[in-house]
Amino acid sequence: MASKRGALIVLEGVDKAGKTTQCKRLVQALQQSGRPAEVMRFPDRTTTIGQLISSYLEKKSDLEDHTVHLLFSANRWELVPTMKKKLEQGITLVVDRYAFSGVAFTSAKPGFCLDWCMKPDVGLPKPDLVMFLKLSPADAALRGQFGEERYETSAFQKVVQQRFDELMKDTSVNWQVIDASQNIDGVHNNIMDHSLNAINTAQNLPLGELWK
Ligand code: TYD
Repeated sequence: MASKRGALIVLEGVDKAGKTTQCKRLVQALQQSGRPAEVMRFPDRTTTIGQLISSYLEKKSDLEDHTVHLLFSANRWELVPTMKKKLEQGITLVVDRYAFSGVAFTSAKPGFCLDWCMKPDVGLPKPDLVMFLKLSPADAALRGQFGEERYETSAFQKVVQQRFDELMKDTSVNWQVIDASQNIDGVHNNIMDHSLNAINTAQNLPLGELWK
C-alpha cells in the first residue's frame, strides 16, 4: 500500500502576528509526536529568484510591480517539485506565507485586482489548511515598530488586511482564523488542533490544485 501523504499547512497573517514563531513551534510539536514535518517559507530568499526578491524587499533594487509579483509566484513554482516529493514521502509541510500573501500584497498596490494577482498561482499545490493569524492594528502596535523593509507601514498593512478579508470569503480554501492576541501557548494549542485534523483528513485524499 502506498504510504500516506503529508499535509500542506499554510500560516498567513498580518505583520507581528507571530507566524514565524508559530510555524517553528508547530513543526517541533509535530515531530515530537512522531509525525514527520518540515518548515518552509515564502519568499524563499536562497534561490536565484529569491535573491532578486530579497534585494527588492530590502530596497536595494527597484522592480516593476507586475514583474515582482510574477517573481514571487515563480519562487513558489520553482519549489513545487520539492514540495510534492516531500508530501509524497509523508512529510507534513508547514509553510510561512504562500500565494495568499502574494495576492494580498500586490493587490494592495494601486491598479491591481485580485483576479489578475491570483492567475499566476492557479494550480499550485492546494493547502489542506490555511490558518490566518488575526491581530488588531492596536495589538500589533503593542508588539513594537514595523521593520525597515518595503511594505512595512501601517497604511499599507491595513489595505493588505482588507485583501486577506476578500480572499477568506473563498470557501474552496480551508481557511481557519486564529486569534493571535492570545499568548504563544494558547495560539499554538489552537494551531495544533487544526493541524492534527488536517493531517488526518489529508492522508487519504489526493493533493488538490489551488484556485482551479
Ligand atoms: P517575509 O520574508 O515572510 O518577512 P516577514 O518576516 O516580514 O513576514 O515576507 C517578506 C515580505 O514579502 C512581506 O512583506 C510579504 C511580502 N510578500 C509578497 O509581497 N508577495 C509574496 O508572494 C510573499 C510570499 C510575500
